[in-house]
Amino acid sequence: MRIIAVMSPKGGIGKTTTSDAIAYMLGEEQEKRVLILDGDPQGDTSKTFEAYEPEGTGMSELLERHVSVGGSYRTTDLIRPTQYSHIDIIPANGYLMQTDMKLLLKQEANQVTRLRDALEEISEAYDYCICDCGRLLDMVVINILLAAELVIAPVKVGGYENEAIHNLQEQVDDLREINPELRIKGLVTMRQKNKTSLDFEEWMKTSSGFDMFVTPIRRSIVAEKASMRMAVLPQFSKNCIVSQDYRNVVHELLKEMEG
Ligand SMILES: Nc1ncnc2c1ncn2[C@@H]1O[C@H](COP(=O)(O)OP(=O)(O)OP(=O)(O)O)[C@@H](O)[C@H]1O
Ligand SMILES: [Mg+2]
Repeated sequence: MRIIAVMSPKGGIGKTTTSDAIAYMLGEEQEKRVLILDGDPQGDTSKTFEAYEPEGTGMSELLERHVSVGGSYRTTDLIRPTQYSHIDIIPANGYLMQTDMKLLLKQEANQVTRLRDALEEISEAYDYCICDCGRLLDMVVINILLAAELVIAPVKVGGYENEAIHNLQEQVDDLREINPELRIKGLVTMRQKNKTSLDFEEWMKTSSGFDMFVTPIRRSIVAEKASMRMAVLPQFSKNCIVSQDYRNVVHELLKEMEG
């Protein structure tokens, strides 16, 4: 199972849209077996995949009450099917904020590798695991980044964005001491067709020093409409420009991961 996290310290930058689209396309268009992990207490991706329950089990139990840390849950107990045959999910809800606090207060060495340990049990059952992260580098997201091999970081035009991805790069560099496999790849999102936006994209790709996806994701109101309906974008509109762009990103990703 190849584990990919979608993370940026910026809010509202397209993390969930990206992870939902990639998970959907890998599963329903490429017929890969996909597991989604919701690493955000907002539970947005759980909502899109119809698995959100404010009091339900999911990521909190995986991190706090798994058999590997003396609890009673196996990973498979926490996996739910979605409305899509190739996609399963471990959902999240507001309790994930308490999970962060509980892990933070524990002094045990495994507090940051709990997710990695829990996923070993199902590593043969899925081809890809796509993790939607919250924007804080909390204990939950650190657990995800220490299990993952790739962080996809959405970026859009703007100076603060540039600083944010640099900060994320530094954090990833620190985490690489524990997880040497981890690398980061930027994805330009919400790109508009004006000079500033195009210049920014060019700079990110050629001079920023970041490994970037070649394909930028264009801005379109269709993405907003899909979010408003809590729908997965490529299912809501299979061939809108944003879906077309994500499809090209998935092709880039598959080429990179599978050669
Ligand atoms: N390419 C795009 N064009 C236009 N709007 C977009 C695009 N991608 C995402 N959006 C919109 O931007 C908003 C934020 O997107 P999204 O929820 O994916 O961001 P996020 O980074 O996951 O946010 P949060 O930090 O709250 O988790 C949503 O309304 C979404 O529909
Ligand atoms: Mg989100």
